[in-house]
Amino acid sequence: MRSRPAVVIGMVAVLAVLAAARVGQLSSPAVHAKDDGLALTPPMGWYPWNIFGQEPQNEKLIREIVDALVASGMKDAGYSYVGPDEGICFSRGKNGLLTTNRERYPSGLRGLGDFIHRKGLKYALYTDAGTHTCSKAMPGTKGHESEDMHRFADWRADYIKIDWCNTEGQDIVETYTKLHEAQIAAGRPIVHSLCSWGEGEPWKWAAPIGHLWRTTEDICGPGRADWEHAVKIALANEKLYRSAGPGHWNDPDMLIAGMPGLTEAENRSFFSLWCMMAAPLMAGNDLRDMSESTVKILTNPEAIAVDQDPLGLQGRIVRAEGEVSIWASKPLFDGSRTVLVFNHGLTQAEATLRLQDVGLIPGTEFYVRDLWRHETSNGSAGPDGSFAVTVFPQDVRFLRISRSSDFPLPPVIVADTYLLSFEATGKGPQSLTKTLTITNKGTAELSPWQVRPGLPPWLTVTVAKDGRTQTITNRVSTTELRKGIYHAVVRLDNVEPVSGRPMSAVYYDVDLDVGRTGTGVTR
Ligand code: GLA
Repeated sequence: MRSRPAVVIGMVAVLAVLAAARVGQLSSPAVHAKDDGLALTPPMGWYPWNIFGQEPQNEKLIREIVDALVASGMKDAGYSYVGPDEGICFSRGKNGLLTTNRERYPSGLRGLGDFIHRKGLKYALYTDAGTHTCSKAMPGTKGHESEDMHRFADWRADYIKIDWCNTEGQDIVETYTKLHEAQIAAGRPIVHSLCSWGEGEPWKWAAPIGHLWRTTEDICGPGRADWEHAVKIALANEKLYRSAGPGHWNDPDMLIAGMPGLTEAENRSFFSLWCMMAAPLMAGNDLRDMSESTVKILTNPEAIAVDQDPLGLQGRIVRAEGEVSIWASKPLFDGSRTVLVFNHGLTQAEATLRLQDVGLIPGTEFYVRDLWRHETSNGSAGPDGSFAVTVFPQDVRFLRISRSSDFPLPPVIVADTYLLSFEATGKGPQSLTKTLTITNKGTAELSPWQVRPGLPPWLTVTVAKDGRTQTITNRVSTTELRKGIYHAVVRLDNVEPVSGRPMSAVYYDVDLDVGRTGTGVTR
């Protein structure tokens, strides 16, 4: 792990912190995501750093990972943001603009993004707020905020992680605010992931300018997971539970589940802790080489449903006895409650749960769903509302408790593509149609996606619903268009049907190339 520069927060920053200190829920005007509809549940995806570090990253690796993410079922489980981390992707040209490292990324960073979008996934890129990235192998954005954010928009990034290396003398609030403003000016909706490892306490001020922020140092050095360090990070992140909510998340770093160095019980415990904390789920293992058990853990829909719950509350420790901690206070969208019992000890433990831990009064009839065993049982508690559970060493019991035996899963949105490319080559005006399908892998039915007004006159978008799948039809008309290249970003909005909460907006790109060999011009 690298040593980090000291952060100097000047007077201006302190004032900004005070002004922005009201980190609220979705209804607060201080939450950035209220306008862009991004990351209303914690982002899910994959980033290379934990397993690969810097050196082996290149386009071939990222493409193979994308294919593995789709084939393993992770895409269907909700993982969507993928791309290089500090992967020696670009340099700064003499004109001051970023240019792709074509030796490592032969299709260019835009070409890689298009590949990812065509697979129905979202594109994640990485940069740094200082003069250089951490290894100094890539330029940082300092002094080039506007050009770089335009470049990331040209490359069609959907997510940008902005590191905090080599920022000596920079004010953290001013710097990230400037980057946010540059991003907005670049005009592309992008999830903004601040990565100052907790420096400058971003949970106090970053909700209006970003969607997630790292709360701690790196979870491991590249290549090997460190279980005890991960637990330490979980305990530090737990304390910040008040700062998380839809569109603004505490990020205790990428996942280590499935990496060398963890047992199956530790993988399960790790994943449960991250889900309980409503943490971003950016997998960090080699997806091309996963055991069956790792796939089962990373794609457990019932655990993911806790992480992705629309209420967006971060669970916390309500009691601890020795090495056993009881995590609760995470009501879910359907009124049920989650409890996680984590045994960090070396011997089997009997933990006592109380109905009061989850807000139920003793004497209430209840059902218990075991989120790893996938079994529902009738709950039975003593007159004082207590009941016992057994937990193996370094393992968890992850339970959902409800007065109803129905445990619905919130929506998980999976699209077949996020990029539609039209080519109009004929002489006269043309009308062309392409569709995109969006499937809800959760159990609740969604109403039809609403198309955000403001599309260009050459594009019409309509929505048809058939059960859990919705077909989005895109009609392009080249009437009135001159020869040229056209582009639109379409936004679709929806609400989660049980709680009525807004869902993360779906955005996709539409490209239109008019008249490469002929002309679409009518006059
Ligand atoms: C920092 C970040 C890591 C990773 C590396 C890349 O350490 O915290 O997640 O992005 O930089 O150098």
